[in-house]
Amino acid sequence: MPKTSKITSATNMSRRALLGAAGLGAAGLGAASLSAVSVVGATSALAADHHHGRPMPPAPTRPEVAFYGRSQAGIANPPPAHLQFAAIDTTVTSRPALIGLMKDLTQGAARLTSALPVGKTGAVNGPADVAPEDTGEALDLPSAGLTITFGFGPELFTSQSKGDRFGLANMQPAGLQQFPIFKGDELVAGRIGGDICIQACADDAQVAMHAVRNLMRIAGTRAKVRWTQAGFNRAASLSNVTTTPRNLFGFRDGTNNLNTNDRAAMDEFVWAKFSDGAAWMDGGSYLAVRQIRMLIVDWDDSVLEEQEDVLGRTKSGGAPLSGGTEFTTPDFSKLAAGGKPAIAPDSHLALAHPQNNGGVRILRRAFNYANSDDASGAADVGLFFMSYQRDLSRQFVALQRQLSESDLLNEYIRHTASAAFAVPPGTSPGGYIGETLLA
Ligand code: HEM
Repeated sequence: MPKTSKITSATNMSRRALLGAAGLGAAGLGAASLSAVSVVGATSALAADHHHGRPMPPAPTRPEVAFYGRSQAGIANPPPAHLQFAAIDTTVTSRPALIGLMKDLTQGAARLTSALPVGKTGAVNGPADVAPEDTGEALDLPSAGLTITFGFGPELFTSQSKGDRFGLANMQPAGLQQFPIFKGDELVAGRIGGDICIQACADDAQVAMHAVRNLMRIAGTRAKVRWTQAGFNRAASLSNVTTTPRNLFGFRDGTNNLNTNDRAAMDEFVWAKFSDGAAWMDGGSYLAVRQIRMLIVDWDDSVLEEQEDVLGRTKSGGAPLSGGTEFTTPDFSKLAAGGKPAIAPDSHLALAHPQNNGGVRILRRAFNYANSDDASGAADVGLFFMSYQRDLSRQFVALQRQLSESDLLNEYIRHTASAAFAVPPGTSPGGYIGETLLA
């Protein structure tokens, strides 16, 4: 049971305030960058300083991220402020039609990530008596570091209702399966799986939304959305805030994430290899998606000590409860006054740390999310958890099995959506995402 503070009366009001603030955050303040590699954007307009009548320097703009490459973008580059995620189903029934769809989606994504409107005539240059090819809301906007990442779900290879519709069953990677039902799962019907996923990340919510919307128009009758979710991190314009971002429980999240600049670690834990079994995945990765609702009313009323015990770190600076600062290695043998372990063995930190999970590491790429209240009036906010790894069953599934059994955090969270995807390698101009599988 949570230790609950006596001050509970402000709960409902503070939840409203929180949702209001989250909505503002999700709307975004334009394209700027948290990234050290950012350049001063030529595209940013000068903003007037209303107090002093002086023009302010332009906000930095996250540079374009190359769409083409050995691996798809959107895995190893730092996550920007906004996510638009869609799990879609294809209605095509033949391999050539699926190839046609992936070619068109690839071409569209290459244009979108270069801040170009889709189609031959874009948003405004077509005939007046024809619906524009591009929907237009990203006209005038820079790329905002947009990345578009495609993945293939297990059902694309074989499914009970549709069988082996594309002749791909023998290409299905062994580890690419719908996730088992973990202890405590409360998955919402209709928010599980998907034939194909589109992960669009950008420093601007409108750019990310425009990308998914226009890709779905390109697909037309060849695909329909199964489920979607938008996510956010703190605004890109706060580039002077360089600390680890916080999740909606108020804790720094990402402290001991894999370092994407560590090539050896990325090779060991993230990039799939020719020799792993599915040769077509060489240079790709596997994506685990879990929408995790946070029971914020219970959490917000639990005392600080309980919150820190659950996560195993301090709320202020994110240091492990065994001492030191944020990046100090946790000492799980350290005892607190009274003789108990300083870091509870069933805290999230203890259970998720490689020292206690057989050495498993994953590359987390999570966003906060804030939806409208559900039908019962409860807040639907939390963490849109995504992680990339080389092998789903040995990494994400093994880790989540351990967490689902005994993580103290489970009292305050519910997993509501779930999907697994094989994210194939990248492509070069003239090629298409999925070519190594489908050609
Ligand atoms: C709402 C749900 C979750 C919350 C609030 C949460 C929060 C946190 C926090 C605050 C940390 C410590 C800082 C850090 O190193 O990033 C952390 C670490 C971590 N979490 Fe989570 N997490 C959640 C779900 C998950 C899930 C589902 C997984 C994987 C199955 C996971 C895997 C990890 C890993 C691997 C670490 C790093 C542990 C280490 O090496 O020290 N988390 N999480």
